[in-house]
Amino acid sequence: MSSAGRAEPLGPPSSFAKRLLVTGGAGFIASHVIVSLVEDYPNYMIINLDKLDYCASLKNLETISNKQNYKFIQGDICNSHFVKLVLAFSLFLDLSFVRAFEFTYVNVYGTHVLVSAAHEARVEKFIYVSTDEVYGGSLDKEFDESSPKQPTNPYASSKAAAECFVQSYWERYKFPAVITRSSNVYGPHQYPEKVIPKFISLLQHNRKCCIHGSGLQTRNFLYATDVVEAFLTVLKKGKPGEIYNIGTNFEMSVLQLAKELIQLIKETSSESEMETWVDYVNDRPTNDMRYPMKSEKIQGLGWRPKVPWKEGIKKTSMLYCDFLHKIQMRNASVFRIVLVLP
Ligand SMILES: NC(=O)c1ccc[n+]([C@@H]2O[C@H](COP(=O)([O-])OP(=O)(O)OC[C@H]3O[C@@H](n4cnc5c(N)ncnc54)[C@H](O)[C@@H]3O)[C@@H](O)[C@H]2O)c1
Repeated sequence: MSSAGRAEPLGPPSSFAKRLLVTGGAGFIASHVIVSLVEDYPNYMIINLDKLDYCASLKNLETISNKQNYKFIQGDICNSHFVKLVLAFSLFLDLSFVRAFEFTYVNVYGTHVLVSAAHEARVEKFIYVSTDEVYGGSLDKEFDESSPKQPTNPYASSKAAAECFVQSYWERYKFPAVITRSSNVYGPHQYPEKVIPKFISLLQHNRKCCIHGSGLQTRNFLYATDVVEAFLTVLKKGKPGEIYNIGTNFEMSVLQLAKELIQLIKETSSESEMETWVDYVNDRPTNDMRYPMKSEKIQGLGWRPKVPWKEGIKKTSMLYCDFLHKIQMRNASVFRIVLVLP
């Protein structure tokens, strides 16, 4: 299966102070990053390279799609020729791409393509967006950036592998790459394969929240705008070659999360009524109990999460759009920021 990759002229290189390439920008987190960058930095050109996978939506970017300092390019980061052309600032691209590869290919090979092209293009800074899942789970020990990577699922393994490629460019060439590892992110526009939008969507369709195992496994949740601020902090102040955890002390069990959403959406606080909206199913083969993480390093750069859970979850459930018209619920996500020299 192939899809067309198109790009419009990006405008004269000299008219913007900086050009930022954000990949996967039609996805959940990166669309928040792009909206914020486009609105707050009119002197920066923000280029969004996204292949428009099942989980993507250009609707997430409607408010800024006509802005002078924003350009969307449909394309695949696994296509090295195309990525090189984008980074070389070519005009009028019209290429075709092979899709149909799974997320391991995208996360690992795609990252290698990006980091290599970015190195050749001598970008000023490269941010690789990784995840707390690379640490694997822990009950009590808090992970800091020097903790070993021990991923326990294929997604986390592909992210850990991609990190190694990025780090090797730092080790070998002193390529200015920074890695972030963040906790779960939630907020409007998230595809419903993740627990919060999944539960909201199920409840909005009068279906039960489906809980794997006991539901006592806990997760830390960060609101999207807080993560946007963390990326901006790393973009401005992050040191090349460094890793930054982006975490929060706010932690909640999956069962408690389901109950909070039932209270909010079904407007009940009766324990027995809440139980009727919960369905317990067999646990996953591995289901890490916790991902406790220290974030002192990024806090040292001045970042702190600001949005309280009650406020964030209320906004999320109110603004949540139904993305269930998409059929497949697979996970292939690429979001990295490449800062291109002016
Ligand atoms: N959502 C979370 O809780 C969370 C937590 C920690 C880290 N992360 C990381 O943050 C990043 C973004 O996560 P998200 O939840 O916003 O993902 P998402 O699935 O909502 O968005 C991913 C975007 O990448 C695009 N994409 C996929 N393959 C592509 C390719 N080959 N070329 C170009 N674009 C492609 C998709 O079309 C989509 O727009 C990921 O790298 C993920 O590992 C996410």
